Amino acid sequence: MKALRIFLVSSEVAPFAKTGGLADVSAALARYLSGAGHDVRLLMPKYGGVAKEASLRPHPRLRSIPLPFGKRELSFSVEVAVLPGSDQEVYFLDCPELYGSEDIYVSDEEDPLRFAFLSRAALVVCQHLGWSPDVLHCNDWHTALIPLYLKAGYAWDQLFQDNLGYQGVFPSQRLADLALDEHASMLYQEDLEEGHFSFLKTGLLYADLLTTVSETYAREIQEEELGMGLHELLRARADHLVGIVNGVDYSEWDPATDALLPEPYSAEDLSGKMGCKRALLERFELQASKEVPLFGIVSRLTAQKGFELLPDILPVLLQRESMQLVVLGSGEERYEKYFQWLRDAFPTKVAFYRGYNNELAHWIEAGSDAFLMPSRYEPCGLNQMYSLRYGTVPVVRRTGGLADTVQPYSRDADTGTGFVFDEFVPEALFQAMRACLAAFGEREAWRRMVLRGMAQDFSWERQGAHYVRLYESVTGR
Ligand code: ADP
Ligand code: GLC
Repeated sequence: MKALRIFLVSSEVAPFAKTGGLADVSAALARYLSGAGHDVRLLMPKYGGVAKEASLRPHPRLRSIPLPFGKRELSFSVEVAVLPGSDQEVYFLDCPELYGSEDIYVSDEEDPLRFAFLSRAALVVCQHLGWSPDVLHCNDWHTALIPLYLKAGYAWDQLFQDNLGYQGVFPSQRLADLALDEHASMLYQEDLEEGHFSFLKTGLLYADLLTTVSETYAREIQEEELGMGLHELLRARADHLVGIVNGVDYSEWDPATDALLPEPYSAEDLSGKMGCKRALLERFELQASKEVPLFGIVSRLTAQKGFELLPDILPVLLQRESMQLVVLGSGEERYEKYFQWLRDAFPTKVAFYRGYNNELAHWIEAGSDAFLMPSRYEPCGLNQMYSLRYGTVPVVRRTGGLADTVQPYSRDADTGTGFVFDEFVPEALFQAMRACLAAFGEREAWRRMVLRGMAQDFSWERQGAHYVRLYESVTGR
């Protein structure tokens, strides 16, 4: 094998900055690739929250490099630290004027410049280090201008991974601020005529290869329903579009070794799982019982995740059935309010923690019997894969990565790992949850399903190799 030089640029890297799965994936993919012998560098902004992280102790690598943007005289430095649990270096792009806030995403006003800066700085960092990557791997709209900045001045290969729900569309008056005015002819002209432009579309146009995080999502985004206005462009580039299901970092997410859990457990000895359920429910002052199934939710509370299916069915289920629900999440106010209401309406059955809490996310994966993910669309989804490993049966909609990773339960055939519904309507989720509740009552069959789920292998050792092959194909190695 010839080692590749791979530059991963991401707005989120766990554990330094995370709002969702992007952070897990960029950290884990980097760990896998460097473990496989490649020269991997990872770049992310040094947000205010990262700067405060006492254990980080980064070393300076580059100092005060000027990078003017439009009329703004900006400059940056680069500091280096090591990704916990590996030798993998992470470069922090330091520019307090842009990234001083603790938040990863600030507002529509500031974000285009913050992420255009990250994208251009990525190229300038390579120049100053005298390091030319074979592959530039960009992630989501935040880094989607890299291929354009690159085409306009440099010449490396690049790969671009995306979630179409977030496109980074901004008014075209901002082009000069982003140093894109001289390259306006390379942007999508129809959009410019309508007065806006899109980071993501620009990335889709200019990357050599497009990847997304499941095979099903790669197909779905070529259709109108989930293409979010980009399906025609994606269809035109279908020969360069590949879906690879994300891996799971089992060094972080395995109940046998998870140091955050109240009790460890494994497929060989599941007894600790009940201890985790008890501890989780005690944390919310709820009663725990072996006989009462507990559903868990850990999620960004956004329209993507499908929670508008819940109001029509959860109150009915909670009244009729013996069941409990623990929810961890934050996001849009309408969903936060809804879960607060649900908790107040069913105080002995529902718990809701509004906010972000990594330890609690692990507790819910371990302590719940079933995990709810009724997503409207889902490029990959990690939580259903974590659930499988934690012996927590996923209830998911058949979309994107959920379709690729959860096998529908069949009582007759004694196969499957979870409950899968098709149509995005409350009735379909209702039926799936009813089927799940019924299956929970058949303890031996349920146990076999749990064990089948725990035996699934979505490790990066399997999934990461697909990326390496793709990198090799795009670089002609
Ligand atoms: P997405 O990236 O769309 O948010 P994924 O399922 O791919 O969905 O990844 C979500 C990741 O974010 C998981 O690691 C999950 O545990 C974590 N997460 C989401 N919301 C929270 C929260 N409120 N607190 C802690 N972790 C969260
Ligand atoms: C996105 C998607 C999610 C995916 C994650 C990591 O945030 O919403 O489905 O798992 O990225 O690729």
